[in-house]
Amino acid sequence: MTAQLNPRGDVAVLVPAAGAGVRLGPGAPKALRLLAGEPLLVHAVRRIAAAPSVHTIVVAAPATEVEAVRAMLAPVAPVTVVPGGAERQESVAAALAAVPGGPEIVLVHDAARALTPPHLVESVAAAVRDGHDAVIPVLPVVDTIKEVDATERVLGTVDRSALRAVQTPQGFRRSVLVAAHRSAGDALTDDAGLIEKQGGAVMCVPGSELALKITRPFDMALAEHLLTTGA
Ligand code: CTP
Ligand code: MG
Repeated sequence: MTAQLNPRGDVAVLVPAAGAGVRLGPGAPKALRLLAGEPLLVHAVRRIAAAPSVHTIVVAAPATEVEAVRAMLAPVAPVTVVPGGAERQESVAAALAAVPGGPEIVLVHDAARALTPPHLVESVAAAVRDGHDAVIPVLPVVDTIKEVDATERVLGTVDRSALRAVQTPQGFRRSVLVAAHRSAGDALTDDAGLIEKQGGAVMCVPGSELALKITRPFDMALAEHLLTTGA
């Protein structure tokens, strides 16, 4: 069934989905690979569309797959699909440029985090609504982390209690994200990094283990298992 988005919602979600998925091994672009019979992007968009504040979804697809992605998502939810770029940051910028007037909160969410629950979309958006310009979902780091030199000799142990593993969706006041992209320099792997570089404040909220990024074949197997147990 096609989801309805909320015409009174205040949130636009950008979904960068134009990556190749090199670390998954040979095959289709990652967002189009099947997880339990459906493309990762379908899983991701279905969960975003189930979040009640979402007004708009813009997907940045691999440039050669724009029409295929439009057709694939039409039965899932009303989405805008634009061609992505060579770097994730370019894909996000292309999606941001396609957001219509209205939503004042913009979330950026990796298609690769296909099992992210709708409540995480809502909690990130709520923190922006409460007055934080930039919000990221995080988890504590569980492994001991060592710093090493170029020869793999250990230089020291990093204080884990002050570290966080960062997920998406990352949420922003719209004007703040637009300004950050306008003055962006080097490509970064996350959007909050642009705000940090420009001296802006970034706030953490609790993330979700279900928001894991599907990167390697092991993650696909784990996601497949999570789906069979109700994710
Ligand atoms: N992404 C994008 N445009 C790019 C590169 C990445 O939209 N030029 C998206 C991916 O589709 C993914 C998200 O950014 O949803 C996070 O990137 P990552 O997990 O690195 O995915 P890929 O780049 O596809 O994977 P890999 O780095 O293994 O090739
Ligand atoms: Mg990548």
